[in-house]
Amino acid sequence: MTSPLDSRRFLYVTGKGGVGKTTVTAAVALVLASRGKRVLCAMCQAKERLSALLEGPPVGDEIVELQHNIWAVNIQPEVALAEYGQMTLKVRAVYRAVFENRLVKAFLRATPGLYQWAMLGKAWYHTTETLPDGSPRFDVVIVDAPSTGHGLDMLRGPKVIVDVAPPGLLRREAEKAWSMFSDPKRSGVVLVTLPEEMPVTETLDLLETMRSDLKLPVLEVVVNGVLPPLFSSEERGALLAPRDLDPSQLGDAALAAGARRARREIVQHDALVRLRESVDVPLVYLPHVFADVDSLKAISDLASRIH
Ligand SMILES: Nc1ncnc2c1ncn2[C@@H]1O[C@H](COP(=O)(O)OP(=O)(O)O)[C@@H](O)[C@H]1O
Ligand SMILES: [Mg+2]
Repeated sequence: MTSPLDSRRFLYVTGKGGVGKTTVTAAVALVLASRGKRVLCAMCQAKERLSALLEGPPVGDEIVELQHNIWAVNIQPEVALAEYGQMTLKVRAVYRAVFENRLVKAFLRATPGLYQWAMLGKAWYHTTETLPDGSPRFDVVIVDAPSTGHGLDMLRGPKVIVDVAPPGLLRREAEKAWSMFSDPKRSGVVLVTLPEEMPVTETLDLLETMRSDLKLPVLEVVVNGVLPPLFSSEERGALLAPRDLDPSQLGDAALAAGARRARREIVQHDALVRLRESVDVPLVYLPHVFADVDSLKAISDLASRIH
């Protein structure tokens, strides 16, 4: 079976803080790795928990293998910038003279977009690496992006460089990366959200920004943490009908719990309806995991829901 994820070389997983970006990155990585793809997960200056989810060694600024076919790297902008300098300025002595100069460092920090580009550019660079036989070192690079605001800033980095940098190597590379990111055949943004009112509003805004402002292809919206409904809509109505509860009574406590759950289910229902009505890309639903979500078993279960 082919899925929209299969043919992409670059995936950018973003959304509000805490919605499940890292969890989704881990699940997508597992799906693709199980289909024989060599996957690199790249995160940016993260207090990383991917290694816990995939039960592998900690992830630092060197690439490590977490599971069969899954590698990861935690990109630090300073290190990325230094590597980038070494790569583009080839000669070490020149590199040292340029990059280890304090004034130059201050200048780089002040150059718009450069810090973000250093991180995203490194992630992109890994899509271009090849093995000795000429095949790609990684079939796909998944960026576990910083939360919404910073995730957008990061995407704007190369765009700023494409738009304002003088012609030269820096701009050429940013242009190459940008043409990959904006190519719907090779790249896709995965938006992660929760089935709640505010996250859905933010996701719809983000979808709009991706399209009209950045002009990047959005592949799918993952709705994470979906509760299995316990009640029908009639039952929810009945549970929420006004009544006098006496919390000292066990039956009343159960009723109160039922009413709380019914309220959450209504919020979730409305959020899902809104998403279905407003989103024109596939929606993927991941259930709320009640026990030990930070485990390979839980992530494998979530991965089985992703096509
Ligand atoms: N489907 C889920 N079911 C239960 N808990 C979840 C689920 N997805 C994420 N979580 C929990 O929510 C928190 C945030 O998830 P995480 O993937 O780190 O989000 P982000 O990377 O967007 O900040 C974590 O504690 C994680 O264990
Ligand atoms: Mg995260």
